[in-house]
Amino acid sequence: MSDIKKGLAGVVADETSISKVNPETNSLLYRGYPVQELASTQPFEAVAYLLWHGELPTDEQLAEFRVAERAHRALQPAVKAAIDQLPLDSHPMDEVRMAVDAIGAIETAGSGNVLDAVGTPKENLERSLRLFAALPAIVAYGQRRRRGLEPVDPRDDLDYAANFLWLTFGEEADPVVVEAFNRSMTLYAEHSFNASTFTARVITSTLSDLYSAVVGAIGALKGPLHGGANEAVQHIFEEIGSAEKVAEWLDAALAEKRKIMGFGHRVYKRGDSRVPTMKASLDTLVEFYDRSDVAELYATLESEFVGRKGIYPNLDYPSGPAYNLIGFDTLTFTPLFVAARVTGWTAHILEQQASNALIRPLSAYNGVDERHIAGYVPDAATL
Ligand code: SDX
Repeated sequence: MSDIKKGLAGVVADETSISKVNPETNSLLYRGYPVQELASTQPFEAVAYLLWHGELPTDEQLAEFRVAERAHRALQPAVKAAIDQLPLDSHPMDEVRMAVDAIGAIETAGSGNVLDAVGTPKENLERSLRLFAALPAIVAYGQRRRRGLEPVDPRDDLDYAANFLWLTFGEEADPVVVEAFNRSMTLYAEHSFNASTFTARVITSTLSDLYSAVVGAIGALKGPLHGGANEAVQHIFEEIGSAEKVAEWLDAALAEKRKIMGFGHRVYKRGDSRVPTMKASLDTLVEFYDRSDVAELYATLESEFVGRKGIYPNLDYPSGPAYNLIGFDTLTFTPLFVAARVTGWTAHILEQQASNALIRPLSAYNGVDERHIAGYVPDAATL
């Protein structure tokens, strides 16, 4: 069958009103707003509200939203216990997946009939908000646990991004750092039918519950061809070491046919629309932390690889070094992506639930021809 589209490349699987990715104009709209404008002007809470409700919140709606979000920031004891049972050297994406699974099992307990766990649109909007609020403490606890540090309590006087940094580092971050981190959350929040979002929609299409869909999406995002790339970019930067070693490193990497993480994209073929905005944030962090060496390595690898292969950076390329400068452990990078993308995933889950059809594509069989067990005599009733 010549119409097989491996990786569903170029296949339009459904409609969505949540975001528009346009490779022709190299643009990305969240509910009609260019992501660059949202990242530069809105607190991440307002972007989460926009993705779920379709409109930016009024001042009053944002105030109400903030009260509701801040009421659910604390690390739940049962979730902490679930993480604590994992080895200290578990991958943080496994910790986050376990934590969301625990939350889901607790919140859907008692729903005897699996359909009861699906929830109503209102219940799932509330579940989405609670996951959005809870993830920073979960991600921060993972990093602190690995560093032998106790968790810190959330701060109700800090907005989402500032509280996330407080929970992770136990001190108030400089406004320059908060702004850069807030921007990264908005840029990571949503990107139409990427692999993890589509995974969430497939799971939702079977009438499984929101938590199961988010757990599946976390599993998909962990892969280095997708969300795990931001972690992999930092590993590459540490492997290369400095700008003057880029050419030699790239010679060897390309000779081994390695994928250079942080470059390339299934949809954008002339550069990822989000990169300039995230690069601007990286530049402010390079200046704030006085790390021109990072800027030099970043620029040299980009110009070398683009020059040789004509493959451009994606969002993970600037976000990796940015998160490293802020002080996140490299293994914490993709969980940060989870905390941002949970808004997009849950917006798509709600959209799939509102207009559902079981997602079940076909396959072209290329195995052996039909054959039979020697001596088997079929029972007339089974024919
Ligand atoms: C994200 O879909 C989304 O929206 C995802 C995302 C989101 O917001 O949700 O944007 C987030 O996942 C960004 C991508 C992060 N992944 C990486 O940085 C991993 C490295 N990138 C590649 O693996 C690759 O670019 C993909 C997987 C991202 C996209 O690959 P495609 O579209 O399937 O294209 P391909 O792998 O078939 O590549 C086409 C050619 C191949 O060469 P040939 O085998 O034909 O000779 O380009 C080469 C590839 O080898 N190529 C690369 C490369 N990317 C493509 N070669 C080396 N390094 C790379 N990074």
